Amino acid sequence: MFLVTGATGDIGRRVVRLLREQQHSVRAFVRLTSRYGELEHRGAEIFIGDLRREKDIAKACRGVQYIISAHGSDSDALNLDYRANIELIDQAKANGLQHFVFISVLGANRGYEDAPVFKAKRAVENYLAASGINYTILRPAGLASNLLTLAERFRETGLYLLIGDPKNRTSIVSTDDLARIVVDSVKVPGALNQIFSVGGPEILLREDIPQIFSRIFNRQPIVINSPLVTVDGLRGILGLINPEAKQALGTFRTLLSNEFFCRKDEIAQLEQTFNFPLETLESFLRRYLAV
Ligand SMILES: NC(=O)c1ccc[n+]([C@@H]2O[C@H](COP(=O)([O-])OP(=O)(O)OC[C@H]3O[C@@H](n4cnc5c(N)ncnc54)[C@H](OP(=O)(O)O)[C@@H]3O)[C@@H](O)[C@H]2O)c1
Repeated sequence: MFLVTGATGDIGRRVVRLLREQQHSVRAFVRLTSRYGELEHRGAEIFIGDLRREKDIAKACRGVQYIISAHGSDSDALNLDYRANIELIDQAKANGLQHFVFISVLGANRGYEDAPVFKAKRAVENYLAASGINYTILRPAGLASNLLTLAERFRETGLYLLIGDPKNRTSIVSTDDLARIVVDSVKVPGALNQIFSVGGPEILLREDIPQIFSRIFNRQPIVINSPLVTVDGLRGILGLINPEAKQALGTFRTLLSNEFFCRKDEIAQLEQTFNFPLETLESFLRRYLAV
């Protein structure tokens, strides 16, 4: 039995689909408010709970052999990115788990002081690696599925908002490829107790993205390039009324102000270990946007 947290998220629901296609039994950890109909329809066992509650985590972990931690947090890095994962690892240890797959983030090991999600991910990586449990840690760059809404907006308006340096490099990964890597991690020998940077096959500049949209929709892009000080201004104002949101914006600012790309040798190692060619961003978008 696989336990998948974040089962209704962009990665999680693709992971559940793949596992069910391969006839594995899956327990999907969802909230009562989550949109989990599709997972149920595919034959996943639905576990309703909240990852902020240790009791729910303990109950969800009973009888599972594999855990895939794929949940995210909007602004509660301490409880969701950190504590919930520590509790999942403790339960995994207590239950003699066979393999734990943790979705971290590219750059988790760079010591970004102002980004609570990155700090939480790094602390969890360390805790998992020292736990004695079989593990695979995946550090994805940005997900291609994040761009689908922006692409739809571009289709209608031709507009693209680019905050920060247009020359920053990125290795956006096909969310479907990432899900496949997640699922294969528990059985590919080269993935045992390893940490992988996960990106797409090409290093893009952020300014390449509106050009890709432009090719797909055959429309000239209108790029609005806003400087990072816009985010800083917003953070300053938010900090006065909502400190949690200010912290979340710290992670957002870190994402916008740094480069998140995988080296060629990292991509080659990934393709070799998991034995399939990674998909480009343009190919992913064309499949989903049917163009
Ligand atoms: N998106 C990216 O570009 C990116 C890049 C690198 C790494 N990652 C990492 O990849 C992982 C998955 O990202 P994603 O973009 O697929 O996530 P996502 O689409 O934002 O989904 C988040 C998931 O977490 C669940 N969740 C949130 N709070 C919860 C709670 N209190 N109890 C139970 N479930 C809860 C959500 O459930 P609901 O459906 O109920 O909201 C949802 O299923 C995250 O760990 C993220 O840090 C993402």
